[in-house]
Amino acid sequence: MDSFPDPQRYETMQYHRCGRSGLMLPALALGLWHNFGGVDDFEQARAVLRQGFDLGITHFDLANNYGPPPGSAEETMGRVLKWDLASYRDELIISSKAGWAMWPGPYGDWGSRKYLVASLDQSLKRMGLEYVDIYYHHRPDPETPLAETMGALDHLVRSGKALYAGISSYGPDLTREAAHLMRDLGTPLVIHQPSYSMFNRGVEEGLLDVLADEGMGCIAFCPLAQGLLTSRYLQGIPADSRAAKAHGFLQADTITEDRLRVLHALNDIAARRDQTLAQLALAWVLRQPAVTTALIGASRPEQLQENVRCLRNATFSADELAAIDQALAA
Ligand SMILES: NC(=O)c1ccc[n+]([C@@H]2O[C@H](COP(=O)([O-])OP(=O)(O)OC[C@H]3O[C@@H](n4cnc5c(N)ncnc54)[C@H](OP(=O)(O)O)[C@@H]3O)[C@@H](O)[C@H]2O)c1
Repeated sequence: MDSFPDPQRYETMQYHRCGRSGLMLPALALGLWHNFGGVDDFEQARAVLRQGFDLGITHFDLANNYGPPPGSAEETMGRVLKWDLASYRDELIISSKAGWAMWPGPYGDWGSRKYLVASLDQSLKRMGLEYVDIYYHHRPDPETPLAETMGALDHLVRSGKALYAGISSYGPDLTREAAHLMRDLGTPLVIHQPSYSMFNRGVEEGLLDVLADEGMGCIAFCPLAQGLLTSRYLQGIPADSRAAKAHGFLQADTITEDRLRVLHALNDIAARRDQTLAQLALAWVLRQPAVTTALIGASRPEQLQENVRCLRNATFSADELAAIDQALAA
């Protein structure tokens, strides 16, 4: 990169309002779930983060447990913040979460006030930050009263350790309940982080309507189905891909002949639109008015360069949408 960061970055990226809040988020955000842990090459991780910011990706998404080992992705983010991005803190939206198992015993998992408050303190320390921009409850907890979990989010925003509150992977009814509780507390829930891709369309069955109704934004995670909806696996499983890694969450046995047939059909549709498969998949997620941001992962800078170009052709004709539905149903 010649001059860092690119002075044109805010012209080339699009920014969308997050629900009815004052927060603007980039159309594409970068998550640190894979490829930024202690097991990964730090200089490569750093190059991807720098590339993201250079392309106008102002939002980086973390969680306490991202690694492996758990916590190490936040340490990587902390180092890059310190070395490369310290003077840009006010141009960045950094999020973290708690809700999955993080430390032993009864206080390091799920949704108690004890866990959420302690975990955010740990996350801030690992990242060397005074506050995160968004703090999420990572998944619903069937045992802890929702009012306690939401009370903890409200408390953390009021304490200044988080600027905005969010939830992840909550269903439509629980989301509505959480939104009402938080509104009553005076700290609106501004964002929901659900899984959404061509291969996982559950949010279309009610959640997106609730989010629009409640004025919450939506940041869709795994929009590329962990890399399936890219050219990565069209010719086999590359040795450096997520599906080939022992600690990757993408299981190689999900790449079946049937799935490959669908991927090739989608790839043909992408080619007719002069796009790559990844660009098609991202534009497709972003076509939903309720979706604020597609939250992608990346293992190399070139993937980000390719992916942000989805914004050059982000509209679909009815025929194209029907062709995609047909390819997915085959
Ligand atoms: N809230 C939650 O419960 C939850 C759960 C999961 C994820 N998330 C968030 O969502 C973020 C994204 O998840 P994800 O990484 O699974 O998202 P994804 O965007 O669906 O998949 C990312 C992977 O796709 C591959 N890829 C990306 N662009 C590519 C391109 N142009 N060409 C070829 N391959 C490409 C890379 O795989 P290779 O590594 O093989 O190169 C990359 O690591 C996470 O980091 C996290 O922040 C949240």
